Amino acid sequence: MMPRAEVNDRSDVEDVLRIEEISMSFGAVTVLRNVDLHLRRGEILGLVGDNGAGKSTLVKIITGYHKPDGGRVYIDGEETRLRSVQDARAHGIETVFQDLALVDELSVFHNLFLNREHTGGGWFKLLRNKSMRAAARRCLDEMAVDIPSIDVPVAKLSGGQRQAIAVARATRQKDIKILLLDEPLAAMGAKETALIINLIKGLCRNTGISVIIIDHNYTHLFDICDRINVIQQGQVTLNADLSEISIEELIELMVQKRRRELSKYMPRAQVPAETVVNPQTKGGSR
Ligand SMILES: Nc1ncnc2c1ncn2[C@@H]1O[C@H](COP(=O)(O)OP(=O)(O)O)[C@@H](O)[C@H]1O
Ligand SMILES: [Mg+2]
Repeated sequence: MMPRAEVNDRSDVEDVLRIEEISMSFGAVTVLRNVDLHLRRGEILGLVGDNGAGKSTLVKIITGYHKPDGGRVYIDGEETRLRSVQDARAHGIETVFQDLALVDELSVFHNLFLNREHTGGGWFKLLRNKSMRAAARRCLDEMAVDIPSIDVPVAKLSGGQRQAIAVARATRQKDIKILLLDEPLAAMGAKETALIINLIKGLCRNTGISVIIIDHNYTHLFDICDRINVIQQGQVTLNADLSEISIEELIELMVQKRRRELSKYMPRAQVPAETVVNPQTKGGSR
């Protein structure tokens, strides 16, 4: 049987993040309605849902970028107001967006230390390139990120390598607890996807970081996640451990839901089969 959305599942001491009744509108458009979500320590939670469902908006609230109209955020069980991205960062929350905020012209190692450069003393606060290079090499080796040289500008790297640098940079943040990934695998080849998936899995295993990842590809999500939340029209409509649901069931569920949505707008007979088929074949999006 399909698990139902557990909107009020029990408060768990292991929750590193918990949000309750979050709502958000842009002008007259309500984007999130009473969203409840929780994230355990060391857990990888996948968010799925159609374009415009509100996934990115939710991530932007957790990252302190948007202020919700209502609801509560708890970090390690304590109610917390995330006033800005810096504020969320101070609480150990880091985000990698699709537009990665890497500086194309700068080298790999400079990007890894962007805004956190190792500086020397003295009048000019000289950048300590040597120490940054060594630390960058160590970091990438530890994370098994395969980059031929840390001196090349990131513009020269593949999408997957760039994404790996962005993830590595986010996780270099001191005291990081939660990593948010908004479609990190979109527009990526198989080899690059495998690199990022292994990187994220390794991070959670080795450091206990918790991850929320948005992706349209259920195969990736079933490979990487412990649990899935479906978001539809600004609401969490399914919360399931991967032990509770199969990929086929999830696809079927999404297809049914989309069919129901479409049938609101047109007679059932006119709902084209094409628009409700396998969401797996859907491309990535912002
Ligand atoms: N800054 C914004 N201003 C106005 N509307 C927005 C803004 N950001 C998102 N939206 C709207 O909110 C809805 C949800 O968007 P989003 O969270 O990006 O969905 P998803 O990531 O699930 O595709 C969409 O209808 C989108 O157009
Ligand atoms: Mg989005």
